[in-house]
Amino acid sequence: MPIPDQIIQEIKYRNDIEQIISPYVNLKRRGKNLVGLCPFHNEKTPSFTVYPESGSFYCFGCGVGGDIFSFVSLAENLDYVESIKLLAERSGVALPQDGYDDSMQRLKNTVYEINRETARFYHEYLMSPEGKWALDYLTGRGLTLATIRHFGLGAAPDGWNSLTDHLHQKGFSDADMMQANVIAKGNRGGYYDRFRRRVMFPIINIRGKVIGFSGRKMPNDDSPTGKYVNTSDTPVYKKSENLFAMNFAKTHCEERIILVEGNMDVISLHQAGFENAVAALGTSFTPEQAKLLTRYTKEIVLMLDADAAGQKAMRRAGEILKDTGLNVRVVVIPDGKDPDEFIRKNGAARFGALLEGSVSEIEYKLLHAADGIETESDDGKLKYLSAAAEILAESNDDLERDLYIGRLCGEFGVSRTALETKIRQIRAEQYKRRQKKEIAQIISPHYTKDDVNPERRNSIKGTEAEETLIAILFQHPDLIASASQALLPEQMITGLNRRIYSILLQCYNEGRELDISYFGQHLNPKQIGYLVSLQHSEKGAKNAPIVLKDCIRVILEEGTALSSSRTGELSTEEWAENMKQMIENKKRGMY
Ligand code: CTP
Ligand code: MN
Repeated sequence: MPIPDQIIQEIKYRNDIEQIISPYVNLKRRGKNLVGLCPFHNEKTPSFTVYPESGSFYCFGCGVGGDIFSFVSLAENLDYVESIKLLAERSGVALPQDGYDDSMQRLKNTVYEINRETARFYHEYLMSPEGKWALDYLTGRGLTLATIRHFGLGAAPDGWNSLTDHLHQKGFSDADMMQANVIAKGNRGGYYDRFRRRVMFPIINIRGKVIGFSGRKMPNDDSPTGKYVNTSDTPVYKKSENLFAMNFAKTHCEERIILVEGNMDVISLHQAGFENAVAALGTSFTPEQAKLLTRYTKEIVLMLDADAAGQKAMRRAGEILKDTGLNVRVVVIPDGKDPDEFIRKNGAARFGALLEGSVSEIEYKLLHAADGIETESDDGKLKYLSAAAEILAESNDDLERDLYIGRLCGEFGVSRTALETKIRQIRAEQYKRRQKKEIAQIISPHYTKDDVNPERRNSIKGTEAEETLIAILFQHPDLIASASQALLPEQMITGLNRRIYSILLQCYNEGRELDISYFGQHLNPKQIGYLVSLQHSEKGAKNAPIVLKDCIRVILEEGTALSSSRTGELSTEEWAENMKQMIENKKRGMY
């Protein structure tokens, strides 16, 4: 049962969108609207826009949008109905008792409970006499009992059904355990424990809930399984969006966070007093993880093994961190050790000194550019300077570039202008390459990846007409009656717009006021974003009734043309033709 419209309206009336969003985004007034940095993707210039008049928001950068409910559901990782509940509670609006569908939230809660119970089971086993083999291993690696308890470490017994039986006893079903990814299904249909004879690291989110596990096998275990087995993505866990130990680090990292490669490294560092260390979870570092870091800190220290893999990981992480505005520094652990080994051998003080000696990312790259080059000879100097110019060209920070240009000129006795010119050239080439790539992407017939309406490629002209039509109807609800006479939902060309149009007509037929919130339960955040952007677009701002008629004509014509084309799929040539047509239309000022 959907939540009644009056209640939704009541909640909206009591919750100002500006007040809902401002704890998450630093909003600045721009005309009637407010803008800020989008909390849902990395950006340096604000493209996140709030429209107080219509109670909606839209990000021009990543395309998400919606109303207060969509915002809260995105920001707090709740489903739409849960976010309605939350805002209702906060503003003292009573909801009709249960009955509506919150099955996803129920499943999430069950998975959280299974995870908590599983973590407890593994920890108790570790501390029991049967778990001695695992406890010996962990203490043998220098961990104290306090550290083991602090991290809630555990161990998975050797059998196939230890955890499965335990969770059955606690009343959980096989289906829910599968959802939590703590058991697996065998060939003959039976279920078995996913983690066996491993030390277990629970993964805990920033709200303190166990969301998954990482299990390391024993050194003497030569079964053909991976060194680590990790939880795959579940309803409560996305590997790419979480960092190991972020739950602890978040209160120790205002100045900086140390990013290391392994869980054991993190635990060692915390034990030695460096509680601002985190690790990516068995993946290479992702943009989502970078985004999480920007919420808590100003500086990242990349802590790397000196081997080739470590260097590669650094370059990737550096690339991702570049657009976050975070300060990036680099420390290389000497002698090819990992941080865990280093600290156990050399102690916390020497590790601290290593941290103090961290260099900026660019400095690190400049240092390594000299590897294998004989910089004594003129030839070598030239080679090094070209390599250095390439590195400096990548920096978007004018001051930083300037600083290093000065340094290199002094060191190598070349003129500043020469080096500056070279760097400018490289930057121009880089820019051209980037642009070429972008254009190639847009022109490619497969350019549908980020498009909320991927059917656009079937008829660009038709889709544009649909969009204008929707924009007009949102801006001029008095025109809905005549549109509904002339165009049926099934005559819309793209599935998404068909859905939007039919919800819109339904809303109208029921005599409700047209409101984004009515769409929230039917569309995903990007789709609602698309709708909000249409609602506020300039499409059809002038001569609405005439433009509307024209849109309907185009939609009908394009629809007929499409259905008579045999395959329904456009060839590349036809697609390119459409594209050209659209560009020409734009020039002539249609739509
Ligand atoms: N990892 C993984 N799967 C593997 C190997 C590694 O998921 N087969 C991830 C784990 O998160 C691990 C990190 O990559 O923590 C770093 O791997 P590695 O350096 O091999 O492990 P350590 O954490 O250093 O473990 P140890 O010191 O016990 O060898
Ligand atoms: Mn290690």
